[in-house]
Amino acid sequence: MAKSTQKKTNSSSNGELVYPPKEIVKQANVKDYDAVYKRSVEDPEGFWAEEAKKLHWFKKWDKVLDDSNKPFYKWFTGGKTNMISNAIDRHLKTWRRNKLALIWEGEPGDLKTMSYHALNREVSKFANILKSMGVKKGEIVTIYMPQIPELAIAMLACAKIGAAHSVVYGGFSVEALASRIDDSQSRVLVTADGGWRRGKITDLKGIANEAMKRSPTVEVCITVKRTGHEVYMENDRDFWLHDLLALPISSPKCDTEVMDAEDMLFILYTSGTTGKPKGLLHTHGGYAVYTAATHRYVFDIKDEDRWWCAADPGWITGHSYMIYGPLINGSTVMMYEGAPNHPYPNRWWSMVEKYGINILYTSPTAIRGLMRFGEQWPARHDLSCLRLLGSVGEPINPEAWKWYHRVIGNEKCPIMDTWWQTETGGFMISPLPVTPLKPGSATKPFFGIEIAIVDEKAKEVKAGEEGNLVIKTPWPGMARTIYGDPDRFVETYWKEYEKQGWYKAGDSARVDEDGYFWIIGRIDDVIKVSGYRLGTAEVESALVSHPSVSEAAAIALPHEVKGNAIYTYVILKQGVKGGKSLEEELRQHVSDEIGPIARPEVVQFLDSLPKTRSGKIMRRVLKARAMGVDEGDLSTLEE
Ligand code: PRX
Repeated sequence: MAKSTQKKTNSSSNGELVYPPKEIVKQANVKDYDAVYKRSVEDPEGFWAEEAKKLHWFKKWDKVLDDSNKPFYKWFTGGKTNMISNAIDRHLKTWRRNKLALIWEGEPGDLKTMSYHALNREVSKFANILKSMGVKKGEIVTIYMPQIPELAIAMLACAKIGAAHSVVYGGFSVEALASRIDDSQSRVLVTADGGWRRGKITDLKGIANEAMKRSPTVEVCITVKRTGHEVYMENDRDFWLHDLLALPISSPKCDTEVMDAEDMLFILYTSGTTGKPKGLLHTHGGYAVYTAATHRYVFDIKDEDRWWCAADPGWITGHSYMIYGPLINGSTVMMYEGAPNHPYPNRWWSMVEKYGINILYTSPTAIRGLMRFGEQWPARHDLSCLRLLGSVGEPINPEAWKWYHRVIGNEKCPIMDTWWQTETGGFMISPLPVTPLKPGSATKPFFGIEIAIVDEKAKEVKAGEEGNLVIKTPWPGMARTIYGDPDRFVETYWKEYEKQGWYKAGDSARVDEDGYFWIIGRIDDVIKVSGYRLGTAEVESALVSHPSVSEAAAIALPHEVKGNAIYTYVILKQGVKGGKSLEEELRQHVSDEIGPIARPEVVQFLDSLPKTRSGKIMRRVLKARAMGVDEGDLSTLEE
């Protein structure tokens, strides 16, 4: 055990405090959290203006925060910038030009690295290709790709020319992709023939082709050749990227478009309580300030660091902390295409050693999954290059926390358990490297962020009691709206605590006597499977799209590795007989429609579903029955 890590038992709260090693404290970017926090919430606009000054602006803002039309807050209004002038262009004028921006390893073991100089050339070429396809400022380009460098390049290229991207996670399937293309009315789709996962090809182009049949807005589909398997390419619609790159249109010189701070950088769809996914909209200005500041402070970023966020760029974690935050901070970013345990469970640990990774940021699911294989796998590698660890996506159980801390971090790497959401753009509750940690707690609010745990009447609950997590004041990284549906934005997040003007996160949590936050989980019909967010309604609508199904309900039950697993209850159409093979067919059907992550663990056939008199499915009753616990108040249940 490393001597510098002291443990103390704190009887006033939950469990032990784990203190950071002295060397970590000595070099920390912020040494006194309390002092900086106090100043940041006393004068948030002053604090954020200071952070914004660290970035490049073509023209400085007139106003830091415009709250004249709540909850549609605006940040840095009047300011002119572009994400790319911060994430790439400004580095080209310094020594960082020749610093590695990206280290990428494919699952089969192929390797690509790119300096900021090289990244700029690739992004510019792609940007010129998009322009030649008629892509205009403000237009939304859909990107559906495996984890390959071209995914990051395509995103950055959109930003450079002022188009917005909508990245659809490469693990999603036909219906999920089609509905997202449809909602954003994308004219251009960027994809790849396939990607590698556990030694097998995922047929992205096949899925994209199916999705394009269902969403006729796509006129141009640019395809990266990754796997080389045979795919169908349609004349006049489908172009191989390598063919376009061979043409003079793909010059490596391209001007970065001057954007308003509040212009749309991207939309990212996430699941909510209805079947229709919400496209959360983020901007060039505030989002850049927020992701850069959170990344730099929470992970104590140094110029010599090699940073690995082992998420997928198709999720907000990938957007904010694989691509934008780290590139603004001029970091060297590691990216890996495939499965953590392919071909063996030491794959990640061998890459940490091989590339000398200093900071690893991942999810509890991944940790629990790798923990199952035993300590002998990480033990084969020298992981002493690691300085800090991170966790995101779901509550981390103390057992996984301790394994991560002891086995991966050798008890000398503090774990930054970061709580946040697609909607928040960046970390909201998180330790800093100097924060004494409590395993399982995301600890304290980030600078400028005020959080409370309240009841339905907006009254703060007592320390240790469960309640709704609310955010009391605006922050620059917040989503500005739901694309095309501002009413839903208000309804979902701001209606319940309208009088107070608070944002309702949809999570239940408690705060202990020391002011440490403990996230319990979602209070709405959102399921977190392996840290991925899915709506029960999406799974249900996939099930009822099958010709044998009349009605369906989906719930989440605890799962050892995935955090939650999906259980479904199905009423079949008259005359259809349930059985093992139909059960399997329905599980596969959900996987084909949404993606393998949504594949239900269980499909159970029932004659009726518990409903309220107004016809709403009572999922909590199904859940209580499945878990064999008290069903609670049944007074609203229809007989
Ligand atoms: O329930 C919380 C959980 O993930 C939700 C947000 O999901 P998504 O928008 O997909 O973003 C995930 C990555 C930021 C939250 O409402 N969640 C996220 N991080 C944590 C967490 N729950 C507990 N602890 C965390 N560190």
